[in-house]
Amino acid sequence: DHLFNEKIDYVFKVVVIGDSAVGKSQILSRFTKNEFCFDSKSTIGVEFQTRTVSIKSKVIKAQIWDTAGQERYRAVTSAYYRGALGAMLVYDITKRPTFDHVARWVEELRAHADNSIVIMLIGNKADLVDLRTVPTEDAVEFAENQGLFFFETSALNGDNVDAAFFKLLEEIY
Ligand code: GTP
Ligand code: MG
Repeated sequence: DHLFNEKIDYVFKVVVIGDSAVGKSQILSRFTKNEFCFDSKSTIGVEFQTRTVSIKSKVIKAQIWDTAGQERYRAVTSAYYRGALGAMLVYDITKRPTFDHVARWVEELRAHADNSIVIMLIGNKADLVDLRTVPTEDAVEFAENQGLFFFETSALNGDNVDAAFFKLLEEIY
């Protein structure tokens, strides 16, 4: 692992955004540690974790920043977005308001992040099939209109979490 770390070709900063309790922090810990916590606490301020992956024979260190969805716990916006090459914009497929707010999060990205930022829309908690209130087609249509990539994931069972991050990192590269 030490040797692997010395050969890093690129460091990509990725930010995770979206309403509170949609599962941002759990998606991140699934991707970086393959862990999931049922009683995770709301994030306060900013945290980041890393995972080093190989993409097209280059070694890429993904530095993934996580902040609070709750307004009162959020860090200074411009500092959070500075240098970000990718964004994971997360909503909860069982909570319609979290999807309705996605447009506002896109506006925030357009206002504060670099124009070339790659945005991945994520419908999380796909394991809760019986509680779904956001049809997949609604998200597909929104993503197409806004030029976003889109995946439905489950941080709980891990479905599509790696796939979504790898797609984002490939598109950045
Ligand atoms: P803030 O830090 O407040 O912005 O919230 P967050 O978006 O980071 O949410 P967090 O990752 O803390 O998850 C919120 C709750 O949803 C926790 O109780 C998690 O256990 C649960 N959760 C997260 N992802 C999933 C998932 O894929 N499936 C299910 N069933 N529950 C999930
Ligand atoms: Mg969090």
